[in-house]
Amino acid sequence: MWEVAREVRRVEGKRTSGDVVTRESGGGPSLRWPSRTWEVGAAHTPGSTLRVSERFGPESTNRVVHGDCLHVAAALSDEGFVGKVDLVYVDPPFASQASYTQETRLDGPADGRVLRTRAYDDSWPTRRGGGKGERAEDGVGAYLDMLAPRLEAMSRLLSPTGSIWVHVDWRAAYLVRVLLDEVLGRQRFLNEVVWRRAPNLGRQAASGQFGRTLDTLVVYGGRDARLHPPTRLEPIPASGIRRDELGRAFTTAPRGDYSDESMARLEAEGRVHRTATGRLYVKYFLEPNAAGELCRKRRIDTLWTDVPPLRHASISERTGFPTQKPRALLERIIQCASPEGGMVVDLFAGSGTTGEAAHGLGRTFVLGDSGAVSLATTRARLLRVGAAFTVECCGEVTPPVGVAPHVGVRREADGSVRVDLHEPREPLAWALGQEPGEGEPFVASWHSERRPGTVPRAAAREAVVPAADVARHATALEVRVYGDDGSVASLRQSLLEAPA
Ligand SMILES: C[S@@+](CC[C@H](N)C(=O)[O-])C[C@H]1O[C@@H](n2cnc3c(N)ncnc32)[C@H](O)[C@@H]1O
Repeated sequence: MWEVAREVRRVEGKRTSGDVVTRESGGGPSLRWPSRTWEVGAAHTPGSTLRVSERFGPESTNRVVHGDCLHVAAALSDEGFVGKVDLVYVDPPFASQASYTQETRLDGPADGRVLRTRAYDDSWPTRRGGGKGERAEDGVGAYLDMLAPRLEAMSRLLSPTGSIWVHVDWRAAYLVRVLLDEVLGRQRFLNEVVWRRAPNLGRQAASGQFGRTLDTLVVYGGRDARLHPPTRLEPIPASGIRRDELGRAFTTAPRGDYSDESMARLEAEGRVHRTATGRLYVKYFLEPNAAGELCRKRRIDTLWTDVPPLRHASISERTGFPTQKPRALLERIIQCASPEGGMVVDLFAGSGTTGEAAHGLGRTFVLGDSGAVSLATTRARLLRVGAAFTVECCGEVTPPVGVAPHVGVRREADGSVRVDLHEPREPLAWALGQEPGEGEPFVASWHSERRPGTVPRAAAREAVVPAADVARHATALEVRVYGDDGSVASLRQSLLEAPA
């Protein structure tokens, strides 16, 4: 099993793409586990190159990469992204020893029809204890073998003002703290945010333990990292509301650790309240919330109980991906940890929540995931919100090949060509584009995708290629169909042969 060992050391990372990565672990703890071969700052894994296979929308720096986080991070380093990234958010597997299934609801009778596909596996090889006091291994060692080098590879990308947020639960939160102490240095710790993800239900509520209802966001930053926590309006009970001579509502709080100097400044601003006995309190002026309740504006702290779990989010937000996180959670993180126009990276992207939130907030994103189901879910999700992005492959990974679509084409009186998708009948998404030349990406000129919702809306079944585009596509239109199982299938279609 693993153990925590105290070490004092300073590690000079080897050269990676021309940059020297310097970390100071300064006496912090480090983890040992039997299979550990990873050493901080050891040679950088040679990066695979990223190959663009598809483009949606106008030229954009947004990227969705199919590949293992380690290789994608190394490839980004080789492309010169070391020190360039404002925010890395990752929600890696949690060492749960479970496999996860995507459940997609299609439109249909009563509660709809559900498609189930294996999304990803979070199982790690276990070992029985041998003789001579050798202890059993419950898979955590293999998990750490996976996670440690990936956290390090992603940390390399951080700018001096950037931060890395690692979303884990009770199984891994304490391990990630120690790993990041080792990778970035204990002094780079910024916050440990607790997110109340779900209330207690059923068996868990009666298990003889307190319900495990929280996830932890472990946050470390670059040398000059600063987070910008938002404020929220907290209603004040009537008994805590006072009025000043001008009739303004305020509440008070003890001075806490405000220095005399700060109290003098607050006094000058009219923000100090003296009781009849002469005690000093800080005044907080109140403002109404949308419901008209008088509230104090407070900076959000590290206990996040106000971001509801996904099951309370709108149905249209739910992709069916098993471990999808709520968009509101990612929006909060992105807003407080990256500037507008900044660059956000998530290389365990799952259903692409980070990409959708980053797009909505005007940040650019690089998403990566090794799972084909994740890639398909993310692609469709980003297309639904109108994001422009490229799809790229890292190394040898390719999505499974689906069954070729069956289409009908018909030339209309105005010269346009109508393309009807006969099979598959309910794709996750499909697109039309110029058939790419050897080594070139598929560039979509039209796409349609299923929309989740109370009544899920199927992708359109027909597409119209405008007359102006028919000549361009005449010899080589490609129809690409994306399945819920992550498959991609394509068909080459000549429009010249379209009957009138
Ligand atoms: C917990 S899910 C992420 C969910 C995501 N935050 C969301 O909101 O949908 C973890 C993801 O990590 C991916 N994954 C697991 N091992 C990986 C690896 N070595 N490299 C890249 N992705 C990996 C899985 O395929 C899965 O999609």
